[in-house]
Amino acid sequence: MTKTTATINRPGTPREESKTFTYDSCHWSIVADPATPLTSTSIEGAVNAAPAPTDPAALPPLLPTIPTVSLPSGSSSSPLPSFSSQTDVYKDIGSSLLDHAFQGYNTCIFAYGQTGAGKSYTMMGSKDEKGIIPRACEELFDRIGTLSVASNTAFTVEVSYLEIYNERVRDLLNPSTKATNLRVREHPSLGPYVEDLSKLIVSEYKDIAALMDEGNKVSA
Ligand SMILES: Nc1ncnc2c1ncn2[C@@H]1O[C@H](COP(=O)(O)OP(=O)(O)OP(=O)(O)O)[C@@H](O)[C@H]1O
Ligand SMILES: [Mg+2]
Repeated sequence: MTKTTATINRPGTPREESKTFTYDSCHWSIVADPATPLTSTSIEGAVNAAPAPTDPAALPPLLPTIPTVSLPSGSSSSPLPSFSSQTDVYKDIGSSLLDHAFQGYNTCIFAYGQTGAGKSYTMMGSKDEKGIIPRACEELFDRIGTLSVASNTAFTVEVSYLEIYNERVRDLLNPSTKATNLRVREHPSLGPYVEDLSKLIVSEYKDIAALMDEGNKVSA
């Protein structure tokens, strides 16, 4: 992996068949056994030491393929690229999201990937390792606090929380609409929006966290 490319190999196939994908930025956050030094040998050795699927029927269903990882230098003793913490990922993705929002653009993060890939961890994280959403919301209110004093500007922050599941749109902050399917419409100048979706005014991150908890209960 490099800062902008990720290369994957299918275990057991020659390295020539590896595929390289290019992105705006790539982050490495595999947590290895602390007793094992992080080298290409340790990672690829661990992957290749996985039992061969001699009897596919004996495997659990939908077992994900574990990719091997190609390292930039190709040397077996190369250290892995530096580990990306939640802070590193936030600095790269979250902060620029706020920069653009304060410049007046609509911004969005689309978390996409196989189950267990780390979407929820990256977006929400844990209490000790907060993800992009809590960090971005906290920084949002920090910036508002600074700007409202510096430029004597009033800010209003509104929160909506919706779920699209089985092609149905549900308002998670208004349980009374639980059974209904909200309509997605297009405004001629503002673009797509969800009709009748509730918007709740918040003044600090704690308010948003409480609304997310409420919404998650409706979604569950
Ligand atoms: N960067 C990371 N560092 C440490 N643990 C991680 C990291 N990314 C994911 N995990 C852990 O891996 C597990 C799966 O991650 P997560 O729940 O975020 O996957 P997901 O992509 O949201 O899956 P699903 O599609 O099923 O919701 C979780 O236990 C999570 O804590
Ligand atoms: Mg998830």
